[in-house]
Amino acid sequence: SQKIYILGIESSCDDTAAAVLCNGKILSNVVATQEVHKKYGGVVPELASRAHQQNIVPVIHEALDRAGITKKDLTAIAFTRGPGLMGSLLVGTSFAKSMALGLNIPLIDVNHMQAHILAHFIEEEGFDKPEFPFLALTISGGHTQVVKVSDYFEMEVIGQTLDDAVGEAFDKSAKILGLPYPGGPLVDKYAQQGNPKAFQFPKPKVGDLNFSFSGLKTSILYFIQKELKENPDFISQNLEDICASIQHTIINILMDKMKKAVKQTGIRQIAIGGGVSANSGIRKTLKEAEKKYGWKTFIPKFEYTTDNAAMIAIAGHYKYLTGDFADMEVTAKARIKM
Ligand code: KG4
Ligand code: ZN
Repeated sequence: SQKIYILGIESSCDDTAAAVLCNGKILSNVVATQEVHKKYGGVVPELASRAHQQNIVPVIHEALDRAGITKKDLTAIAFTRGPGLMGSLLVGTSFAKSMALGLNIPLIDVNHMQAHILAHFIEEEGFDKPEFPFLALTISGGHTQVVKVSDYFEMEVIGQTLDDAVGEAFDKSAKILGLPYPGGPLVDKYAQQGNPKAFQFPKPKVGDLNFSFSGLKTSILYFIQKELKENPDFISQNLEDICASIQHTIINILMDKMKKAVKQTGIRQIAIGGGVSANSGIRKTLKEAEKKYGWKTFIPKFEYTTDNAAMIAIAGHYKYLTGDFADMEVTAKARIKM
């Protein structure tokens, strides 16, 4: 049978990534994470596009090298068209276009949000693929969506955040506690040693399957300010309990909506994606939900949950199979619908 080699290129935010898939199996998955943003406490778009410019050629070379192939072996090139930061997307888009043109092979545009979900279809031993239809919960620093997935490219957003993304809720809470950016993984780390019921934070009142996290951040800020007035060492003395309580509240918010989504759609398969799905509390809670609620949950390998190009390549693979190619007039798009 014919071998389909897809090069995936991802540059929508602050990670420059390239991956090679052969018939849906990973041959290489390279990510250059940009460190320049750390000292600013968030991604600086102008710096991100400059770093993409510097990283893209070495990252793609590395991906081809590790895959043990040359560019002449490639069947098609898939790239992230959007959504994301315009200047960042432009780097990957222009590069993919010129490379596909130079090699005279198909160019495939990929929606980053669809790719986060399609990451579950990477051929990987020990990992089941969800069956259609399933629900996807995409949670990262930039996104929070509940998606009904009816087919590879038939997806409907049935809930989303009205303000901050889940990752931002983690990062902004961490910042209030004086933790460095991005604070999500640190909140997770301290939470594992803390009491999740030590402090109570209000859950937002948002209708339907939508989310809101900006109120949580504000209530954490007021709570911490009030406690610090009485005890200047409040944070350091209670860091584990504070983190566990914040994480517990966020998980409850997510789980409430997923229970609602299951009830509303009758779908019991839940697949998660995005950087926040690395959270140990979320993973544990979803695993427990299999027994507790009779759900089947899909938790991908960590490297396929954060921004990566393997997910772009697998989305490209499925588009390749149906001949869904982009033409050379295709442009990056900062905002694209699912
Ligand atoms: O998908 P990602 O790498 O980039 C995008 O935002 O698209 O997600 C990064 C986000 C950050 O907000 C980071 O704090 C959060 O994911 N994150 C976590 C954990 N690991 C990463 N949040 C909570 N617990 C974690 N273990
Ligand atoms: Zn992402």
